[in-house]
Amino acid sequence: MEIIIKKTEQEIAEYVSNMFINQINKKANSVLGFATGSSPISTYQQLILDYEKSNRDWSQVITFNLDEYVGLKQTDEQSYYYFMQKNLFSKINVNKANIHIPSGIGNLVKNIENYEKELDSLGPIDLQILGIGVNGHIAFNEPGSDISSLTRVIDLTQNTIEANKRFFDNVNDVPKTAITMGISSILKSNKIVLVAQGKSKAQAIYELVNGTVSAQWPCTFLQTHKDVVIVVDEAAGSLLK
Ligand code: F6R
Repeated sequence: MEIIIKKTEQEIAEYVSNMFINQINKKANSVLGFATGSSPISTYQQLILDYEKSNRDWSQVITFNLDEYVGLKQTDEQSYYYFMQKNLFSKINVNKANIHIPSGIGNLVKNIENYEKELDSLGPIDLQILGIGVNGHIAFNEPGSDISSLTRVIDLTQNTIEANKRFFDNVNDVPKTAITMGISSILKSNKIVLVAQGKSKAQAIYELVNGTVSAQWPCTFLQTHKDVVIVVDEAAGSLLK
């Protein structure tokens, strides 16, 4: 596990976006794994700037997103599909047919089956970006998630609901369940980069690096992966020795 501490969010974004750019340059039809939430937004902004400047070709890139709220349509502004369109996909020449985000409406069993099948046939993911929850979740694999878990519906913990209420008008509007890629599927990625900013993430980053591998802190499962890079600011890295 490589740990990189940067001074500013902008420096994190430049570093991580370069990882994605290098991956696309190396392989035009790379399979890239994306996350939502606040942490990766500045990286996505850098990727958009790069696209505008260099016309980098995303047309063959295949994308997988980690998760989606149950019950939200793609057109819902709080859905992760909408988030990805707004913050990245609508700004680059990614091919719509190459985008894979689990659908949280309709027949969830079928949706999950399809998503896993696509991941199996198009994967492994070459480069996966992750954020981290204050409780150590990766994707929406909440504490208690098994290392062998696959894509499934998961109950969000109260602190995840609280943490994500900032995106909604009211805490009661935050969906209580989500579809998440499982830990086992995440660990199949060839390379993983996890980004975190701010003091609220310091304990989770400490556990990720120094904690005992256990389902109590799902992030610790990343210790078992051969190629993980952690890119944090000083506040998120403040408990590291
Ligand atoms: C979102 C996801 C979550 C977030 C995590 C941190 O796709 O997979 O694990 O990365 O909840 O969220 P932020 O970045 O908003 O603090």
